[in-house]
Amino acid sequence: MKIGIDKIGFYTPHLYVDMNKLAVARDVEPEKFTIGIGQSQMAIAPITQDPISLAANAALQIIDEEDKAKIDLVIFGTESGIDHSKSGAVYVHQLLGLRSEARAMEIKQACYGATAAIQLAKGHIALHPESRVLVLGSDIARYGLRTGGEATQGAGAVALVISANPSVMVLEDESAYFTSDIMDFWRPVYSETAYVDGKFSNEQYIHFFAKVWEQYKEKTGLQLADYEAICFHLPYTKMGFKALKTILEEASEKEQERLLTNYKTSTLYNRNVGNIYTGSLYLSLLSLLEQKEDLQEGARFGMYSYGSGAVGEFFSGILQPGYREHLFVAEHAAQFQARKEVSVAEYEAIFQESLPTDGSTVELDISQDPATICLAGISDHQRNYVNKQQ
Ligand code: HMG
Repeated sequence: MKIGIDKIGFYTPHLYVDMNKLAVARDVEPEKFTIGIGQSQMAIAPITQDPISLAANAALQIIDEEDKAKIDLVIFGTESGIDHSKSGAVYVHQLLGLRSEARAMEIKQACYGATAAIQLAKGHIALHPESRVLVLGSDIARYGLRTGGEATQGAGAVALVISANPSVMVLEDESAYFTSDIMDFWRPVYSETAYVDGKFSNEQYIHFFAKVWEQYKEKTGLQLADYEAICFHLPYTKMGFKALKTILEEASEKEQERLLTNYKTSTLYNRNVGNIYTGSLYLSLLSLLEQKEDLQEGARFGMYSYGSGAVGEFFSGILQPGYREHLFVAEHAAQFQARKEVSVAEYEAIFQESLPTDGSTVELDISQDPATICLAGISDHQRNYVNKQQ
């Protein structure tokens, strides 16, 4: 049975900071951020957007009545969730008006969460070919002002409908994965920001890539030349390039050129959004699918997922006939175009805003947030969301 990505949606908040200006404010050469790290703009989430609303906005864009009737499983991958108990999936399920006869759950393993969700979704579809699964990867990446990781923050969500006979990409059955208990990046439950051993995390990302790539080739007999492109989890756009470089020599010069060109296209959205943790790999895939117009049906794409802590996985997908008609290219272009730049001072002020943790009531001004679904306030320790369409 063919199982894979039927639809893919994306949402990022309407605010961003320019990395050149952030570099100047931090007394760093701008080229360090724009070339050395490879980021041009960084999405900033206003207080009216959290991982739930971001995910709901991404999903709202893609699901129709038929999806609503068939989705019986919602899996929310996140590492910046809002509750230790209740899953983000239950909130999104309600905000989208999905049917009650569905399962809803949250899944966590750093940036690997959405990949884990997709693999579970595949199993569910294999048993229930008529159903559809909504997979969400949604996060706000926060390291803190003036920290080493600051230039690699970001915010956004990806929503995927996983089904049998998918319109966009069939995900091949074989997969290679690797787990090892390491402390490269983590966020204790009491901390709003992540802890990271930056250099070690870079090394481990590449080490895990080598492990799963070798294992995958052994399992499948596939070679680098069989790939139109390899998409990577992109904490920043230079990171995937560093990993790709380690295997490039396995391909001919012409193939190397193709892989490098496609890699660059696969980083366009991420370069202007930043790290969105769980959704990052799928944002990179989306960037390539939407920005390269002459991709051939039947082309094979490799996908490297990495979630600190750490789990790595490599798997592949085959592009389906007519895939382009099922993308939301115009909607995503409009979304990027409508974004508003904030100054570094404004970004810092937004970063430091927080919701009460003592049960007091706050109503948020959602009139400045163009998103359809917003966080409108908090009372009695409960977040209140508004869907402006309802
Ligand atoms: P840093 O110490 O600020 O930067 O940390 P650096 O000194 O290593 O410089 C970065 C690059 O800029 C270097 O290039 C410099 O040469 C270059 P490289 O040697 O790496 O190729 N550079 C310049 N280039 C051009 N012109 C200049 C210039 N100056 C310097 N003038 C670091 C960078 C990424 C470590 C930091 O930002 C950080 O800690 N980020 C967070 C951790 C992270 O993103 N790790 C990635 C792997 S782990 C992962 O992907 C998982 C994650 O997403 C979490 C999860 O799974 O949940 C993070």
